[in-house]
Amino acid sequence: MNPFQVNRSGSEKGGIYRLSFFALLLSVIFVSFGFCKESKPLSPEAEAGKGLYMASCIACHNTNPKLDGAVGPSVANSSYELLEARMRGEYPQGYTPKRQSAAMTRFNFTEAQLKSLEEFLKQ
Ligand code: HEC
Repeated sequence: MNPFQVNRSGSEKGGIYRLSFFALLLSVIFVSFGFCKESKPLSPEAEAGKGLYMASCIACHNTNPKLDGAVGPSVANSSYELLEARMRGEYPQGYTPKRQSAAMTRFNFTEAQLKSLEEFLKQ
């Protein structure tokens, strides 16, 4: 057996593996940079609101609150009063609803949870 040959074929194989590893690493880096650019850093409170929103609201509302969802309208910049009333299936006095339907689920959130939702929905 020629040790030189064994060595060479071994290093060629390693070269290909290394190349694909770096290609993978590069694409991971590019993808994560893309995500970083899109999502601006949120305050801890808005982060909590985001968690609530993603868990409870996106069945009907859009994951991007600025856009209309499958069932519910856009909810960006909703005030605390609006959110609080909505959780009871109502609207603040004098508020003109974006939709006339009455399809939204009732929720039982605490004041702190509603405030974090409001914080997250501020765009
Ligand atoms: C079952 C579907 C559904 C879920 C879940 C849901 N909504 Fe809604 N939402 C609606 C619909 C439909 C409307 C339009 C009025 C109606 O039909 O009650 C609405 C209206 C709203 C409005 C008023 C928009 C406006 O300006 O007129 C707000 C604010 C709102 N939703 C926030 C939320 C938040 C926050 C959550 C999560 C905690 C949530 N919704 C969960 C369906 C839903």
